[in-house]
Amino acid sequence: MRFLTGITTTGTPHLGNYVGSIRPSVAASRRPDVQSFYFLADYHALIKCDEPARIQHSTLEIAASWLAAGLDSERVVFYRQSDIPEIPELTWLLTCVTGKGVLNRAHAYKASVDKNEAADNDPDADVTAGLFMYPVLMGADILMFRAHKVPVGRDQIQHIEMARDMALRFNHLYGEHLVLPEAVVEASVALLPGLDGRKMSKSYDNTVPLFTPREQLRKLIAGIVTDSRAPGVAKACEGSALFQIYQAFATDTETARLRQAYSDGIGWGEAKQLVFERIDEEIAPMRQRYHELLARPREIEALLRDGAAKARAIATPFMAELRHAVGLRDLGSTMVKSAKPQNAKAAAPAFKQYREKDGGFYFKLLDGDARLLLQSRGFELPKDAAVAIALLRNEGVSALTGLRDKVDIASGVSNGEIDAALKFFASHGSM
Ligand code: TRP
Repeated sequence: MRFLTGITTTGTPHLGNYVGSIRPSVAASRRPDVQSFYFLADYHALIKCDEPARIQHSTLEIAASWLAAGLDSERVVFYRQSDIPEIPELTWLLTCVTGKGVLNRAHAYKASVDKNEAADNDPDADVTAGLFMYPVLMGADILMFRAHKVPVGRDQIQHIEMARDMALRFNHLYGEHLVLPEAVVEASVALLPGLDGRKMSKSYDNTVPLFTPREQLRKLIAGIVTDSRAPGVAKACEGSALFQIYQAFATDTETARLRQAYSDGIGWGEAKQLVFERIDEEIAPMRQRYHELLARPREIEALLRDGAAKARAIATPFMAELRHAVGLRDLGSTMVKSAKPQNAKAAAPAFKQYREKDGGFYFKLLDGDARLLLQSRGFELPKDAAVAIALLRNEGVSALTGLRDKVDIASGVSNGEIDAALKFFASHGSM
């Protein structure tokens, strides 16, 4: 089982990164059945940061944080993305099997477009092609090392699904080369709230730096939003950022004790002190190591270069295999026929359009085994049938609601089967 995850090298790691990514990754890296790949996503950093010094410093801080948190660089492959030239190379191959429409729907890009539209700007104002391509670069990170599991925050799940679709499409065209990855989200603590109760995130400016000095940590915890209930009045755990943060560090027994204290009316000041001490207990030894590491950047550099050598021992031959698969080949080598399975076409779902004797324009959706999934009623104009098909391809099963009196689900067919067929189109662009 291979685990892989990356951290974008902008900014300083905060408690949310620690709980959501660093800590579970380090724990997974100790499992004997797991091979781990962890990397510093500095190509991703260029998408949102144009300050070279900040990228350099952040790369150092993040590397030191992972090492301080217990990552054993002997056991895992720990590297810097930009040391692996095969990653941008694979990015291009994946770019060519990714529907542009799929990227239009990526959250990060869409958020920028929505913001522009809300401000009455050009939808793509200040949007770089780098932001648009972000999911493809991430797909290359993952697929290059045939990762099975990708520990990420909830906001990244969509990207892992896109990587799966890229792998499916690539394998469909060129044979089974890529492994389909799965996202792993740590259920209880996937989204650590920040100081203001929203998700802890750099973009909300509500973070607690992971290795902030002890006194600063105390101050920041004291600033977590609470309600105005006085000591002695019972407090609610649900919706309490303080409680959720505590839960991310405490054992179940400790959490149960705080729950009791809440209903017994613990004062907010006292609760904050408790939370602060609990976090500091876990962080303090790492903080010490972190500062020792930061003082020795050359050692970290050497360690990352060792990691890159290990990563390239995998990436270089694999990239050669993929180049060959797509036809980027030595011209003197014997011509190898397409790896595409003979029945590749038959295995794909399809829309069939046709005209009936009644003069109406009809279509149906068949799955890979030519089983009927959807049957349209007659449209007066071929254009209207085409619009309905486009809706289904772009929006999936949710489009069925609007097409209720135009398209029927064949008997015995589940929504899941229709969903799978339509997802195929969404991820395969124009086919
Ligand atoms: N995009 C991720 C983030 O911002 C970082 C990242 C880049 C990543 N490549 C990855 C995470 C590959 C997991 C796998 O959090």
